[in-house]
Amino acid sequence: MNRMPPVIGQPLDRVDGVAKVTGQARYASEYPATGLLHGSVVCSTIARGRVLRIDSSEALKLPGVIAVLDHAHRPAVSSYDDDYSDADAAKGTPFRPLFNDRVLYSGQPLALVVADSLELARHAGSLVHIDYHEEAHQTDLLAALDQSHEAPAETPAARGDFAGQFAKAAVTVDATYQTANEHHNPMEPHASTVLYKADGSLEIHDKTQGTQNCQDYLHKVFGLPKDQVRVLAAFVGGAFGSGLRPQYQLPLAVMAALHLKRSVRVTLTRQQMFTFGYRPRTRQRLRLGADADGRLLAVAHDAIGQTSRFEDFTEHLVEWSGMLYRCDNVALSYRLTPLDVFTPLDMRAPGAASGVLALECAMDELACAAKLDPLELRRVNFADRNGNEGKPYSSKELLACYDQGARRFGWSGRNVIPRSMRRGRQLIGWGMAGGVWEAMQMKASAKARLDAQGHLTVSSATTDIGTGTYTVMAQIAADAIGLPIADVTFVLGDSSLPTAPLQGGSFTVSSVGAAVLQACQVLRGKVLERARVAYPALASLPLEAISFADGHLQFGKQRIALADIAATSPKGFFEVQIDAEPSAKRQPFSTATHSAVFVEVLVDEALGTIKVNRVVSAVAAGRLVNPKTARSQILGGVVWGLGMALHEQAQTDHELGRILNHNLAEYHIPVNADVGDIEVIFVEEQDDIVNELGSKGVGEIGVVGVAAAVANAIYHATGKRIRAFPITLDTLL
Ligand code: MOS
Repeated sequence: MNRMPPVIGQPLDRVDGVAKVTGQARYASEYPATGLLHGSVVCSTIARGRVLRIDSSEALKLPGVIAVLDHAHRPAVSSYDDDYSDADAAKGTPFRPLFNDRVLYSGQPLALVVADSLELARHAGSLVHIDYHEEAHQTDLLAALDQSHEAPAETPAARGDFAGQFAKAAVTVDATYQTANEHHNPMEPHASTVLYKADGSLEIHDKTQGTQNCQDYLHKVFGLPKDQVRVLAAFVGGAFGSGLRPQYQLPLAVMAALHLKRSVRVTLTRQQMFTFGYRPRTRQRLRLGADADGRLLAVAHDAIGQTSRFEDFTEHLVEWSGMLYRCDNVALSYRLTPLDVFTPLDMRAPGAASGVLALECAMDELACAAKLDPLELRRVNFADRNGNEGKPYSSKELLACYDQGARRFGWSGRNVIPRSMRRGRQLIGWGMAGGVWEAMQMKASAKARLDAQGHLTVSSATTDIGTGTYTVMAQIAADAIGLPIADVTFVLGDSSLPTAPLQGGSFTVSSVGAAVLQACQVLRGKVLERARVAYPALASLPLEAISFADGHLQFGKQRIALADIAATSPKGFFEVQIDAEPSAKRQPFSTATHSAVFVEVLVDEALGTIKVNRVVSAVAAGRLVNPKTARSQILGGVVWGLGMALHEQAQTDHELGRILNHNLAEYHIPVNADVGDIEVIFVEEQDDIVNELGSKGVGEIGVVGVAAAVANAIYHATGKRIRAFPITLDTLL
């Protein structure tokens, strides 16, 4: 019906790009208000114990300091654990900011200084004296492995006979890997601006991946009616999972606003960005057994991750080892060690980033042991069914990822022998790995309104954490109704809009996109229905003869502007709201995205320096709504994977129980000079089962497998197998 070239699939620029690069886009801490007060958080310096006394007298003497809130001086809050729970809460008893005198971790917020200016609040914070009763703490996962318990996760049950088959296998690998604590560190630190309205209601600009999650949390913690708490997040300067839960600056800012009946902003410092959730450190043992041809006979993946004393954070850490390859004898286990730290938090491809790292390094080791090409080993073990669920994949173009990635990279020119390729002093290493991530869909709602100016406004409470949501939703809507993209506005980031899930898990396009598509399709039906009433010439035409394109309804050589049709409607506009459920077609299938990553490293033989020279990432993720924003997601994921392999590590001084390198000077992430050439290939993948759009989501698959490919390339370059991440030059020398 639609004769216009589809907008979906075009590499459009971000519709919010100009607002962002010209500074017009406002972030949470950039909303002005008259009489705005500024809060600065004072954090604990011990990892475990009790607060004996908080002396704020010196701080309060300073002119312009309005209040110091602590557990003894604050408005009433709920004491029920459940009220502090949220849509991404881990199992356990959530942290309650400024609730009582318990110190649960180093960096815990213990007081909020509120002053006329941020500088004054910060200075006054340095004058707050806290006396503690200190207790012995433990922050080192490796020193407390024996204190682990089974993770409350739905770890797939064992199948077959791992032990028996492992014992009989012609080739085996038994290797243990370690990953580091990583903190999200988006460019925009967490911040909340709470605007206190004359009627006592709150309008809050928060850095979050879920405005309704925050609204619900504040409703419960402070007993505020929901219609008096509106949470907005029009622009989010990166989040990567750090905004999935309400962070503590939000309740602190609300506490101060309610206490003082004033507008208050609380912004966390870069150092304080290390005082809440993070990707948890893990120790993972992989045992793989194969026959002489490399066919997997036995897979065991036993992982231990760290968590806090108050919540059991779990992620999908070991599942991948039971589903990425075909194997009938699988045993998976996942345990947690509670430490005196804050609860970990989902971070980009939570679980897969660390779990697939271990699996894909072990597969490389198995390939070496079996004297097989690592790519060939993976081809031999390709699975078209998810062994954990016993279901076929709705689509899985992983073999095409292997082929196209390998061709582009030039993999066939690889000498399999380690240390065999060099350029002068530089040892050259080529490594590869596979990646996998779930393709989920959640319930979501959207509203679409076509007005008499012919403009379509579509809205949903989702966010755009930099992924391109504004743009791709506008594309989906434009196509569905045949409007140029310039005539479509997508509105998001507001708790008062139709319900949307948290933005995470790579499921925003599938979930919110499905709601947007359905809302626009129903709207289109309404327009057509109205047109047939208003324009009798249309009434007798078969539906196939009528199309929507370029803002018009077209039939034969005639066209009627959608704006004119809207103007004839009783209200002067059309409006539709839809609640979209996950597609029922998904049920009998397993749905996932896949990738194959190829990496070239140069290792200086004398100095041990590691340079990732080039990366080819071939991704199968269904249909792309926007190849440009999708590519950006994969590029970012690859860079993150390089960081995981070579740079990122929150280093804890276990004597003090605190993170030492809590700044971007010492917490290393890749800079431009660390990033070589990255090529992204999107493999064609048709999937009409996963959802109406056929799009699986690309937010997370980009990072999965990258660190393993780097590690495997380093082995190929040097002959050294480093199993603790990040791999630094001192471990190579
Ligand atoms: Mo992502 S960790 O699902 O924000």
